[in-house]
Amino acid sequence: MSACEQPALKATDIACWFHLPQSWLDHTVFGRPSRMVKAVDGISFEIPRGTTFSIVGESGCGKSTVARMVVGLQAPTRGRFDFAAGRGRKGRLRTQMIFQDPIASLNPRWRVGDIIAEPIRELGLSDSRKGTERRMHKLLDTVGLGSRDAGRYPHEFSGGQRQRISIARALAAEPEFLVCDEPTSALDVSVQAQILNLLADLQNDLGLTYLFISHNLSAVRHVSDRVAVMYLGRIVEEAPADEIFDRPKHPYTKFLLGSVPDLLHPDRERVPVAVDLPSPISPPPGCTYHPRCPLASHECRTMAPDPSLVAASTVRCHHVAQAQVS
Ligand SMILES: Nc1ncnc2c1ncn2[C@@H]1O[C@H](COP(=O)(O)OP(=O)(O)OP(=O)(O)O)[C@@H](O)[C@H]1O
Ligand SMILES: [Mg+2]
Repeated sequence: MSACEQPALKATDIACWFHLPQSWLDHTVFGRPSRMVKAVDGISFEIPRGTTFSIVGESGCGKSTVARMVVGLQAPTRGRFDFAAGRGRKGRLRTQMIFQDPIASLNPRWRVGDIIAEPIRELGLSDSRKGTERRMHKLLDTVGLGSRDAGRYPHEFSGGQRQRISIARALAAEPEFLVCDEPTSALDVSVQAQILNLLADLQNDLGLTYLFISHNLSAVRHVSDRVAVMYLGRIVEEAPADEIFDRPKHPYTKFLLGSVPDLLHPDRERVPVAVDLPSPISPPPGCTYHPRCPLASHECRTMAPDPSLVAASTVRCHHVAQAQVS
C-alpha cells in the first residue's frame, strides 16, 4: 500500500473504561469491586485522508471519549491508533481539536493575535517574529476575520467569530487532522452553516481529514463521507453517509433517523436523551440495544452480534445478518 492510500487514521479495537470513584467503606469494609464505565468498548474504524468521518449517537454513547483519545487527551484502555506517516516537525502528531464551546478554549486575557501566534512559536513553525506575525494575519484572513481583529480580546467577538478564532488557532499548528466535537452546537442556527462551510472550504484547500461529531443529523449528512452510529460505547452501524441516511439498516439507526418508534419512550420527541437509557456501567447482555429494540429475540438477549457486511454497510444486528442470509 502506498503512503497516499494509507488511511489518515486506523483505529483498531479501541476501548476506554473508567473506574468509578468508590467510597472507603465499600472498598475497605465491604470489599466491593470498583465499578467500571465502559465508555468505549471495542471500536474499529478507518478514515481515508482528506475525508470526513462522523460519529452520531445519543448523549453518553462515547463520542467525545473517542474524540479525546484521537487527539491524545485520553489514553485508551485497549486497542491502537495508527496515524498515517506525515508527522509534523519535531515528530508531533498533527492532530488538533475544535471544541463545542470556543469561549472555554480561548484564554480570555490574551489578544486574539497572541492566541493564534502561540502554537506557531511553541512549535517553532516560523524562523522570525515577522514570519510569525505574517502567518497569524494570514490565518485570520483564512478564517474570514480581519487583520485588525488581532488586537482584540475573545469577549469582543460573537460566538461564530470565536469559533473562527479557535479554528485559526488549530490551523496555526499546521494539522493534517481535525477533530471537531460538536463544533456548531453552541452557535445560532444562522451561524452554524457558515462555520460548516468554512470547515468544508478548509478541507478542500488544505486536504484536511476530519473526525466530526454532532447531534445535528442534517449537518452530519451534509459534511460526511462516512458515518458511524454509536450505541453504549460500540459502533452498531458504519457506512457511507448516503447509505446511512437513505437506507439505514440497524434498528437503532432507524430510530435515530426517526423511522421507528422507541419502545421505552414512544411519545418522546426525537431529541438525544440522557435519562433512562441502559447504562455503560452495566450494559445489557447480548446485543446491548435489545431492551429498546422492536425486533429483540432470545438470541439478541443472550448473544452479542458480530459485524456483518450488508451492501455498503457494516452492521451489528442478528436480524439484519439473518435477513441477508435468507
Ligand atoms: N472521565 C470520566 N470518568 C468517568 N466516566 C466518564 C468520564 N468521561 C466520560 N465518562 C462516561 O463515559 C460515557 C461516555 O461519555 P462521552 O462524553 O464520551 O459521551 P458523548 O457521546 O460525547 O455524550 P454527549 O453527546 O452528551 O456529548 C458517559 O457515560 C460518561 O458519563
Ligand atoms: Mg460529547
